[in-house]
Amino acid sequence: MEYIFSDRLKELSGNSIREIFKLVSSSDFISFAGGLPATECLPIKLVERFSAELLGSDRAAALLQYGATEGNPQLRRLMTQYVKRAGIKGVRMENVLIISGGQQGIDLAMKAFVNEGDAILVENPTYLASLHIAKTYRANPIGVNSFEDGIDLDDLERKIKEYRPKLLYIVPNFQNPTGKTLSLEKRRKVAEITARYGLMVIEDDPYRELRYSGQPLPAIKSFDEAGNVIYVTSFSKVISPGLRVGAAIAQEKVIYKLTIGKQAEDVHTNSLAQAIVEKFISDDTLDKWIESCVPVYRAKRDIMARALKEYMPKSFKFSVPEGGLFIWGQFDKRSGIDAAGSFRRAIENKVAYVSGNDFFSDGSGRDCVRLNFSNASHEKLAEGVKRLAQVFSQK
Ligand SMILES: Cc1ncc(COP(=O)(O)O)c(C=O)c1O
Repeated sequence: MEYIFSDRLKELSGNSIREIFKLVSSSDFISFAGGLPATECLPIKLVERFSAELLGSDRAAALLQYGATEGNPQLRRLMTQYVKRAGIKGVRMENVLIISGGQQGIDLAMKAFVNEGDAILVENPTYLASLHIAKTYRANPIGVNSFEDGIDLDDLERKIKEYRPKLLYIVPNFQNPTGKTLSLEKRRKVAEITARYGLMVIEDDPYRELRYSGQPLPAIKSFDEAGNVIYVTSFSKVISPGLRVGAAIAQEKVIYKLTIGKQAEDVHTNSLAQAIVEKFISDDTLDKWIESCVPVYRAKRDIMARALKEYMPKSFKFSVPEGGLFIWGQFDKRSGIDAAGSFRRAIENKVAYVSGNDFFSDGSGRDCVRLNFSNASHEKLAEGVKRLAQVFSQK
């Protein structure tokens, strides 16, 4: 059979991280590729207890029935309070859509605002799935430069004027892939500039609670007076990615359109999973859980950073992020190291990373790597970095 795929998907190849997943099942393989939370930070016992309580309660039948596309009312109500921790105030239930993970929030926002051929702005580099989603809507992602403290505001304004984009996609905390955090002043300015030009913003914030040092900062959404920011949060990294629960916070009119888009995708988010999340956030259970996970992640980050310093070639430079799950590094151009070209050799050496070019809208970044530190054991973190160092010292 010769399949005639849609124009939307025919030129798209699989997301490279999902492809790597298929290669790394053997136990002696060390993967720094995915963004998996630590296994020890999956709250198995709590989820087991909450599931039993819910299924033994008078809500059981409702939780196994179809539910509202907008989400369980109990969780929507709790989310109006939950987002206050990001400085987002005045949120009513009508401003909340429960989504099947943050990724669906990006998808629904692009579905609602992007037409074929529209330019959209992303940080350069950016979360690779945002590029993938943009391409499924046949949008044209344009990279905006970024500095250590986040997006370059002059470049942002220049590109708004030049490309007349529909929206900006931005990750403010411990960005994936670079680990960078957008400064307070820039958060205020991003809200102001985008409002001035009538540009929608997808503020994607799955890592906010995974902070290992420094002070938490208010979301861009907290400075949103025009109603142009769609704030997307997720419980994947702090409870479990398998539950698939997140939330989008926006103006009621925007939530209404996202809801229509979601009806066509998956009807509603898993009701039982939503109710489990309710249990986590209706008191301080989640906060205590996160408090117990932060030292686990901090230790892993520090072990990887020490090993990188010790074993990697001198041409490799990296910065230690204040939170999140990734260390981003770059080889000196003069080293001639090509991370994309070295990938096969790394796989033969039983170690995986993601090459930088997957995160750049223009395919540059072959001299960069993204390394996930959250999922490997302490021993594997050190051993995996040694393997990487072997791969890159052969070039
Ligand atoms: C920046 C960013 N956004 C969204 C997601 C998707 O998260 P979720 O599991 O909530 O869909 C990820 C996952 O790695 C991410 O890094």
